[in-house]
Amino acid sequence: MKMLGIDIGGSGIKGAIVDTKKGDFVGERLRIPTPQPSSPKAVAKVVAQLSRHFDWGASIGCTFPAVVKRGITLSAANVDNRWIGTDAAALLGKHTGNPVLILNDADAAGIAEMRFGAGKGVEGLVVILTLGTGIGSSLFMNGELVPNTEFGHLIIRGKDAEARASDRAREEKGLSWQQWGKRLSEYLQYLEALITPDLYIIGGGVSKRYRKFFPHIQCATPIVPARLRNRAGIVGAAIAAAELL
Ligand code: BGC
Repeated sequence: MKMLGIDIGGSGIKGAIVDTKKGDFVGERLRIPTPQPSSPKAVAKVVAQLSRHFDWGASIGCTFPAVVKRGITLSAANVDNRWIGTDAAALLGKHTGNPVLILNDADAAGIAEMRFGAGKGVEGLVVILTLGTGIGSSLFMNGELVPNTEFGHLIIRGKDAEARASDRAREEKGLSWQQWGKRLSEYLQYLEALITPDLYIIGGGVSKRYRKFFPHIQCATPIVPARLRNRAGIVGAAIAAAELL
């Protein structure tokens, strides 16, 4: 089945048509910078622009970098606060003229990774972490998603974990791979003390450089890089829409 997947992020809004059986794009991906401020209306206009670009006249799957329940965005860590409490599914539906399924970005990436990537066929408790502007998390038990985990916001040394250990924190603080690896290790060990996962999958743009920082990570849980990289959000959103709408 073909489905339009859109990935809303703090800096870019990306879309592509996805073959949901193959877990891959059909044609090119288009990226439009996220409007600043990223108000609901401004973002909805970009989503509509993407849908027009792809000449799309059917359901759409869309990610959002916050907690999303029944189409309503309930938090806004790295986007405009006006999203909190917005009926995002209705808003995007109105702007695109089509039904929109909206889900958390890390949950979407996790769905794609479990179906087509590093989590394929893995049983037990799998945690997928996306390291980017924030830290996104998704949790799967025997392949089944437990949605809206917010493990990026665990408090470590009195601070929000994503402020210490996201890829943005690495860049902004000019951390070496070793220094960042130490912070990640502390974070991963803390999380494993709480939920004892069977596997960590590390995604987000920086995951393609896993050879640089994996050697500095110490934790008891097996850890592997994600395979779908920047395709994961779009592919996962499309799969979710194909199955749930
Ligand atoms: C948000 C999550 C999101 C993650 C990655 C966090 O700050 O709270 O909902 O999945 O960033 O974008």
